[in-house]
Amino acid sequence: MPGVVLVGAQWGDEGKGKATDLLGSRVDYVVKFNGGNNAGHTVVIDDEKYALHLLPSGILSPGVVPVIANGVVVDIEVLFEELDALIARGVDVSRLLVSGSAHIIAPYHRTIDKVTERFLGKRRIGTTGRGIGPAYADKINRVGIRMWDLFDEKILRAKIEGSLDQKNHLLVKVYNRRAITVDETLDELLQYADRLRPMVTDTAVELNKALDTGKNVLFEAGQATMLDIDHGTYPFVTSSSATAGGAVTGSGVGPTRIDSVIGVIKAYTTRVGEGPFPTELFDDKGEFLRKTGGEYGVTTGRARRTGWYDAVIARYATRINGLTDIVLTKLDILTGMEKVPVCVAYDVDGVRYDEMPTDQTAFHHAKPIYEELDGWWEDISKARAFEDLPPKAQAYVRALEEMSGTRISAIGVGPKRDEIIPIHDLIHAR
Ligand code: GDP
Ligand code: IMO
Ligand code: MG
Repeated sequence: MPGVVLVGAQWGDEGKGKATDLLGSRVDYVVKFNGGNNAGHTVVIDDEKYALHLLPSGILSPGVVPVIANGVVVDIEVLFEELDALIARGVDVSRLLVSGSAHIIAPYHRTIDKVTERFLGKRRIGTTGRGIGPAYADKINRVGIRMWDLFDEKILRAKIEGSLDQKNHLLVKVYNRRAITVDETLDELLQYADRLRPMVTDTAVELNKALDTGKNVLFEAGQATMLDIDHGTYPFVTSSSATAGGAVTGSGVGPTRIDSVIGVIKAYTTRVGEGPFPTELFDDKGEFLRKTGGEYGVTTGRARRTGWYDAVIARYATRINGLTDIVLTKLDILTGMEKVPVCVAYDVDGVRYDEMPTDQTAFHHAKPIYEELDGWWEDISKARAFEDLPPKAQAYVRALEEMSGTRISAIGVGPKRDEIIPIHDLIHAR
């Protein structure tokens, strides 16, 4: 012990990569348990910027064992591209472990992701186009391909045949695309088998052993609570379990092994892709947040939608994930405002909601009820203790803490590793 879970509390891009990196020197394992290369985590170390997608952010910490667990969907081509790029920059990636039970994103999953979105037209999700949804659909549909299958060509061929059988009908007859052959898919996947073999193992055994022997294991979520397949703004979500429960099913450790759950939350809100977003701004304030916060997607380069902090979402994330600690990021971006509105509740067709409506119709109708907090003008990027913050910034943080119902244990005041205000230790017993 301890097992620590780290999740995004909003719609992603809260700064999970930076938060993981912060804990890097104190953990032995960093486990990615959901999603795939739809994620985009930026980590800044000594002015060097790293963008990670499929790999857990812990890969940058010397001595950490990075693990891609069973809940992840793996695009093998991307895996090696990312590994090679890190190797070229002198990062030691030799400890990486990949679960044999993780599912593979095959080339046809990417194709189907893109054509489905085009077909959906104005009902599209705005996916990253990486094949995530179709790969998870195959997993649930029991026609997926797992890492283990790469090492048995006969089984691999049979599974590709089974999977392509239906898909080619769909691709050719519905989407008007060319059929994909079993051989091209087989060749594409088999070319990586030898290089993958030494990394692939039963990672659940490894992680349980690590916890048994007192190692610190950090489970790092991709995406976030509001993009979770069960608890997010369905259908405008990703296809995996991005909440704390996903850490358990996605890695093969029991819930009793988890000691703390850290929610990473931005001091304002952003969203990429389609779907409802009650506090979204369409004015110069929204543009200010986008420009100052550098709110452009790490994976697709899309401009992120921006809006004020939403305390209803923070309370929801606290409840769904059982948060024990919050890391509040990007407080520095709010510097220089007269007033900072915070959404404290919603008005849904004349009815006040203090808690998240999970009914899609109600959430689409939700209008934010704002409380205006005082802003501050002082540069806070050099603050390293809570008391270093100007009183009005302190009051903003305290107000957010009270509204969310979880203690704020660290505050981000800049993208760099040391631009953080530690308040409570993030690694602790339950
Ligand atoms: P992730 O997907 O949750 O890992 O987050 P992203 O990396 O997609 O987006 C977060 C962005 O904010 C990155 O560019 C980080 O370098 C940056 N960042 C993280 N924490 C802070 C902070 O406290 N202040 C500022 N200014 N930037 C931050
Ligand atoms: P990180 O880990 C923000 C969004 C997409 C789209 C929806 C479904 O960096 O926080 P998908 O390709 O997953 O089927 O797309 O989810 N999305 C993200 N938004 N940050 C992410 O990851 C995201 N991963 C997926 O924009 O709306
Ligand atoms: Mg991101």
